[in-house]
Amino acid sequence: MKLDNYWMPFTDNRRFKARPRLVASAKDMYYVTPEGKQVLDGLATLWCVNAGHCRPRIVEAIRAQAGSLDFASSFSLGHPLPFRLAERIAALAPRGMGRVFFTTSGSEAVDTALKIAVAHHRLRGEGTRTRFIGRERSYHGVNIGGMSVGGVSSNRKAYAGTLLTNVDHMRHTHSEGNAFSKGQPAQGADLAEELESRIVPLHDASNIAAVIVDPVAASGGVLVPPRGYLERLREICTRHGILLIFDEVITGWGRLGAPFAAQRFGIAPDLITFAKGITSGAVPLGGVIVSDAVYEPFMAAQGGGIEFFHGYTYSGHPLACAAGIATLDVYEEEKLFENSRNLAGYFEQGVHSLKGLPNVIDCRNLGLIGAVELAPRRGSPGERGYEAFEKCWDKGVYARPVGDALAFCPPLIAEKKHLDQLFGTVADVLRTLT
Ligand SMILES: Cc1ncc(COP(=O)(O)O)c(C=O)c1O
Repeated sequence: MKLDNYWMPFTDNRRFKARPRLVASAKDMYYVTPEGKQVLDGLATLWCVNAGHCRPRIVEAIRAQAGSLDFASSFSLGHPLPFRLAERIAALAPRGMGRVFFTTSGSEAVDTALKIAVAHHRLRGEGTRTRFIGRERSYHGVNIGGMSVGGVSSNRKAYAGTLLTNVDHMRHTHSEGNAFSKGQPAQGADLAEELESRIVPLHDASNIAAVIVDPVAASGGVLVPPRGYLERLREICTRHGILLIFDEVITGWGRLGAPFAAQRFGIAPDLITFAKGITSGAVPLGGVIVSDAVYEPFMAAQGGGIEFFHGYTYSGHPLACAAGIATLDVYEEEKLFENSRNLAGYFEQGVHSLKGLPNVIDCRNLGLIGAVELAPRRGSPGERGYEAFEKCWDKGVYARPVGDALAFCPPLIAEKKHLDQLFGTVADVLRTLT
């Protein structure tokens, strides 16, 4: 097989193609390589496969759907599945968040949410509210809107002239003083004050549409929000009529032991973006959950006609919706959000068991997401993390490098024995790493 033609996303293509890592199949917690070796999936692949791999119920739903209605548009035409899935999602969402707009990815979900925010204000006669506030080290996908509000510098630097100019960023919440915090760090809630003290006065609230944050910044390095920080953001946004968007592409679907981080933290955002775990990764699907209050002006608009000039060819795709409904069935029947909650303590012990090993400068965790951070090698940041990742793979464990951190995010079907294998292998690798 030639490897040249496929331009791999977010990959060091030359390094990968010199030493490829391929998988041939997957089942539950494990991948199987073409050589027949099992590899534990310690990252739900890309923070997606919350129900585990190739679950029969999801596979069957996709198979049956492909044979009965392969595709139908949702532009002025309907089929039952997106309506049914939206109803199921609304039942899991925080109270008062009953409207669901489907996309095919998390990046599209983010750009959709930004557009909904601006259009909402305009419909209410506040058309000057067009600015967005993001945060350093937050990741909101790769489309122009999400990249602009996102704060991962490596993703932005090549496109500096292309980024939206109506965006400011709050500081990220990571601090060395909080190293080795178990769960939410104690220090840092005051970082939210920056919104109140600097950004709102700078632009005036009347020009600001929305603040967007990922409640746990995963792709930015697994940064857990300090206690009280998100609550403070909510208060400030409410006071100034600014919409609060929780980007829950990773924190949704049981990752933190509740359907969404919003419920875990007891905070009601105005919009929630989701993707990944809604189908356990089996078919691409994303979307935005919208509060009834944000939705209402669209339906009250005078004159009739299309209320929101936005949508994707594959919004509400039958295969994706069938997979989504089956995935929610699996979550419910197997009580996987509860499992996530119950396993979080053991997971925390596992993450923090890595403290004290060579080069470890931080361990952090919340729910079933965590990371160990390694000191960077002088002059080659990211190299030590990447080497840890490669060595773990060779030893049959998949965890993802994010700079010099190694991130963990197992499927919610994980058992203690899987976590023992995950952290035991990582510990063995860290002991050998120079
Ligand atoms: C918080 C967050 N938002 C958005 C995205 C983008 O999702 P996608 O890769 O499906 O476009 C991701 C992907 O990791 C994410 O973690």
